[in-house]
Amino acid sequence: MPDRRPLDDVGAHVKDSRRFPGGRAFFAFDDASPATVIPKEASCYSCHRDHAAVDTAFVQFYPALPEIAKRSGTLSAAYLKNEAAAAGLVGVSAPNATP
Ligand code: HEC
Repeated sequence: MPDRRPLDDVGAHVKDSRRFPGGRAFFAFDDASPATVIPKEASCYSCHRDHAAVDTAFVQFYPALPEIAKRSGTLSAAYLKNEAAAAGLVGVSAPNATP
């Protein structure tokens, strides 16, 4: 039986460097009204900027895309920095693990 839950929320992440400072904007939809732009101060922008792999989109969670982004050289500096920091944690043991 297919999952037929009602649609909960719809948003849009629009890329247009002529319209938006920074080149991207998020839009929220409220029922049938026209979409409104979410202000730049919203946490959407900072989280996506600091943690998303490519151009503020979370490419790392879509199976085929990370390898393509790696080959294309489009992984963001913030993502590469986070990955390097996470890799540095491998092999670190928990302090005072024994009582
Ligand atoms: C704390 C971090 C964080 C915040 C804040 C955040 N997001 Fe995201 N967003 C994510 C992550 C992680 C994903 C990818 C996971 C997924 O697709 O479910 C995502 C996915 C998305 C996507 C799908 C496209 C993509 O980049 O994968 C859209 C659109 C989106 N978010 C919009 C928003 C909007 C609008 C807001 C603010 C109202 C917002 N996000 C706030 C972390 C965040």
